[in-house]
Amino acid sequence: MTLFSIQGLTKRFGALTATNNVTLDIGREGILSIIGPNGAGKTTFFNLLTGFLKPDEGKIFYKGQDVTGKKPYQIIRYGISRSFQVVSLFEEMTVLDNVRVGVQRTLGFMNRMFLNYSHADAVTKKAMELLEEAGMADMADLPAASIPHGDRKILDLCVALTTNPETILLDEPMAGLSKAERFRITQLIKKLSETHKVIIVEHDMDLVFGISDHILVLHHGAILAMGSAGEIAANEEVQAAYLGREVA
Ligand SMILES: Nc1ncnc2c1ncn2[C@@H]1O[C@H](COP(=O)(O)OP(=O)(O)O)[C@@H](O)[C@H]1O
Ligand SMILES: [Mg+2]
Repeated sequence: MTLFSIQGLTKRFGALTATNNVTLDIGREGILSIIGPNGAGKTTFFNLLTGFLKPDEGKIFYKGQDVTGKKPYQIIRYGISRSFQVVSLFEEMTVLDNVRVGVQRTLGFMNRMFLNYSHADAVTKKAMELLEEAGMADMADLPAASIPHGDRKILDLCVALTTNPETILLDEPMAGLSKAERFRITQLIKKLSETHKVIIVEHDMDLVFGISDHILVLHHGAILAMGSAGEIAANEEVQAAYLGREVA
């Protein structure tokens, strides 16, 4: 079953084509990883799928609905959420309040469901549930600025989950993390994938080849290859373009 149907997607920045005629179906099942050298267009592709950029050409369908050119807040309502390569949190606020802000925003979208509840209690309860699932409940009262880098990444993920997505796009969830932190995020992503479609941009090849059901390789904005982990590892073009090379 197709989740995303992407047709001829193209994005240019002046003379540079950052996404070049990408046509691709993404199924509902399994973890998809997107790899490619720096500048290959991975983040741009995420920005197009999540409404942060409008394509110059092409179409994006999500579950058969045309979402091309929709704004980020509209995309969220289709059940698509994302994390960012560079985590942005409310630094002065606590971990819990960072998640509460996200929950609050989402509940604002949903009409009158919580009218009969104490609104603040419902928001706090939902935010604590998300932190508990991510193993971060004990950090709830700490200022966001004070927590380790790995926990910041996880907190950002919790914020992304406040919109109740069915599909979540993670842009370099492992970047800059220690081995122990990477293990923790890997476990979390696996757990998340049991209930969500997970699409990851990542340079950590242990993660990519360890957990992906499908791998998409982008090169100069275009699709170089798409296949199973085994197929991609054995693909000579991919090896030449990317896997053989040191990642900056
Ligand atoms: N907003 C922008 N304006 C101009 N050029 C951009 C912009 N965003 C990305 N680019 C360029 O597009 C190309 C792809 O970037 P990006 O999608 O961030 O690659 P990746 O995430 O694979 O490293 C790069 O050459 C980058 O410099
Ligand atoms: Mg990027």
